[in-house]
Amino acid sequence: MRAEDAQLWEHANQLLERDGELELPWTQQAFDWLLRHLAQPPARMLDVGCGPAVASCLFAQMSPATQVTGVDATPAFLRQGAARVSRLGLSDRVHVLEGDLSEGLDVPAADLVWAARVVHHLSDPVAGLVELGRLTSPGGLLAVIEGGLPIRVLPGGYGVGRPGFMSRLEAVLSDHFIDAYDLPERVTSGTEDWPLLMAEASLEHLASRSFLLDLPAPVEPWVRAYLLDKFAHLWDMVGPKLDPPDAEALARLTDPTDSLGIHQRLDLFVLAAHTVHLATTH
Ligand SMILES: C[S@@+](CC[C@H](N)C(=O)[O-])C[C@H]1O[C@@H](n2cnc3c(N)ncnc32)[C@H](O)[C@@H]1O
Repeated sequence: MRAEDAQLWEHANQLLERDGELELPWTQQAFDWLLRHLAQPPARMLDVGCGPAVASCLFAQMSPATQVTGVDATPAFLRQGAARVSRLGLSDRVHVLEGDLSEGLDVPAADLVWAARVVHHLSDPVAGLVELGRLTSPGGLLAVIEGGLPIRVLPGGYGVGRPGFMSRLEAVLSDHFIDAYDLPERVTSGTEDWPLLMAEASLEHLASRSFLLDLPAPVEPWVRAYLLDKFAHLWDMVGPKLDPPDAEALARLTDPTDSLGIHQRLDLFVLAAHTVHLATTH
C-alpha cells in the first residue's frame, strides 16, 4: 500500500463500520449464496481488506463451525475490527491481522476467501487476484466484491437541483476517488471487467451476481442519521469541486431547515446493488 494511501485510510471516515452495518442485509444474502455453493461450511474463511471486520463477524455468526481471519493493511481499522469482534463475543473464532495484499499475505489458505472493495485499490489488480487465488484452497471459492450500481436515497433527481444533479455528483466523486487513491486505469477505464481480470490471473470464473440493498421508506432513524453523516462527508470530499448550482443542491440536502433535505423527507430510502464475482482455483 502506498504511504499516501495508508494516511488516507487512517483518516478515512468513521463511516466504514456503519457502511458495513447498513449493508448487512445484502451481505447476508451473498454469504447464504456462497454457503450453498460449498459442499460443507468452510473450516477457514479469509476476509481480505476486512476494514472494521463487519463481514468477518457476520460470516462467523452465520457459520458457527468456521474460523475467520480478517486481514487489513490499516491498523486503525484493525483496532476497530478487534473491538467489534470482542463486543460480539466472537474472539474465539474471529482474528484480525495486519497484512498488505500487494506484498503477499502470510496466512494459511482458506476454503472461502472474501475480498470486498479492496482489489481495485491495488496498483496491480491482477497480481492481487493471483495472490488471492494462492490463498484460496484448491477447489475453494474466491469472492471478489467490486462494482454494482451506485446508491440512491431519494426519488428521481432528489428535487433539490437541476436535472442530472446526482449523475454529475457521482462523476465528480468518481474522479475524486481515482485521484485521491491513484486508482489504476485497468479497473476504472471500463474496458475490462472482473471476469476477464480473473481469467488473466488464472482463476476459473464461476459466476457474477449482484445483490440488492433495498431499505424502503420510511427508513429507521439510524439510517436517516447515517445518510446525513454520509452526505456531510460527501460535501467534505467534493463540495468545493462542484459547479455552484450542484454545490447548492448538495448543501440543501443536509440543511435541517430545508423541507427537501434529508432531515425532513418522508420518502428517504436506500437502494444500491453490489456485485460478487466468484471464482475457483485448481
Ligand atoms: C473500501 S474499504 C472496504 C472494507 C470492507 N472490505 C468493506 O467492504 O466494507 C477497503 C479496505 O481495504 C484495505 N486495503 C487497501 N489496500 C490494501 C492492501 N494493499 N492490503 C490490505 N488491505 C488493503 C483498506 O485499509 C480498507 O480497509
